[in-house]
Amino acid sequence: MTKADFYTRKLAEGRAVLAPMAGFTDAPFRRLCRRFGSGWAVTEMVSAKALVLGDRRGLEIGAPYPDEPDLVIQVFGGEPDIVAAGGRILYETYRPAALDLNMGCPVKKVTGKSCGSRLMRDPERAAAIVHALAQAVPVPVSAKLRLGFDTVNALEVALALQEAGAALLTIHGRTAAQKYSGEADWEAVAEVAAQLSVPVVGSGDVTTKAQFERYRALGLGVMVGRGALGQPWLFSTFRGEPEPSSAQKLELILEHAHFARNWYGSEHAIVKLRGQLLRYADALPDAAPLRAALTRVSTLTELTALLSRHSVLRAENRVPSSVAFS
Ligand SMILES: Cc1cc2nc3c(=O)[nH]c(=O)nc-3n(C[C@H](O)[C@H](O)[C@H](O)COP(=O)(O)O)c2cc1C
Repeated sequence: MTKADFYTRKLAEGRAVLAPMAGFTDAPFRRLCRRFGSGWAVTEMVSAKALVLGDRRGLEIGAPYPDEPDLVIQVFGGEPDIVAAGGRILYETYRPAALDLNMGCPVKKVTGKSCGSRLMRDPERAAAIVHALAQAVPVPVSAKLRLGFDTVNALEVALALQEAGAALLTIHGRTAAQKYSGEADWEAVAEVAAQLSVPVVGSGDVTTKAQFERYRALGLGVMVGRGALGQPWLFSTFRGEPEPSSAQKLELILEHAHFARNWYGSEHAIVKLRGQLLRYADALPDAAPLRAALTRVSTLTELTALLSRHSVLRAENRVPSSVAFS
């Protein structure tokens, strides 16, 4: 088996992939998205420096849900030896299927330390990091880029990373200066991909099956981030399955809560879930009152009670089956 095999095999399945999103793609949400058919899922980014300094938080972020297959842990850092050492710790601890280097984060706290999207300005350093990381672990190393930092230079950077041993590159079709404004430029991503031998996954603004199919037809893998928040079933609709009914969506929220309770414990779970709960409301009837009620929920038991009272379940005379929280 060569190092590239994991990504090549997974891409051949033709599934969309859950994008890494700090604050959202924790173990419970990844579990849910995998259940709906996300090809693999990438963790929130973990600081290599924090890992090397022995900070437990970094290790917690990289941890897999029990029996989570195909775990890809994303790491960020600006120094080749530190990223390599951090990557080694993650590998020894969790045996992930691959490690991914963050080269897209536009946040000043990260870019100020020559990390994240700042690496787009320094292809040599980025290549040295990928090289060091690939030497340090026996699993594939990938990187997630933007089109550039403030000007577009993704091809130059991608060629350097490919040469350094990257097994796959993901490109978010915006520069870091754009942050999340404007539209992701998938044509630009495809143009870069056409000049590389490693596979490329595109990222940015995918919310429909038509987009998924159009971008696959460009020869790209497809990553889905914000579109999957509050609607993790997107992954299965891209494969032709029907969208869940409103009643099924309500049960699914409770399933998410169940995973979160197992992962964080009851008290912490409701805090971690809050941001996601409001997004689920958008896909349900009576969204406005439901959103308002969800902001007031402070325990998982209250959450179950609230969702059981929802008009959709009352109309169908159904009570959520999956979970009773105590
Ligand atoms: C809240 C949030 C957190 C993110 N965190 C990360 C991250 O930790 N690592 C990363 O590579 N990209 C991160 N991203 C970027 C996404 O992975 C993705 O490339 C971007 O959101 C565009 O795709 P989308 O339109 O499908 O969301 C984040 C995006 C958002 C909105």
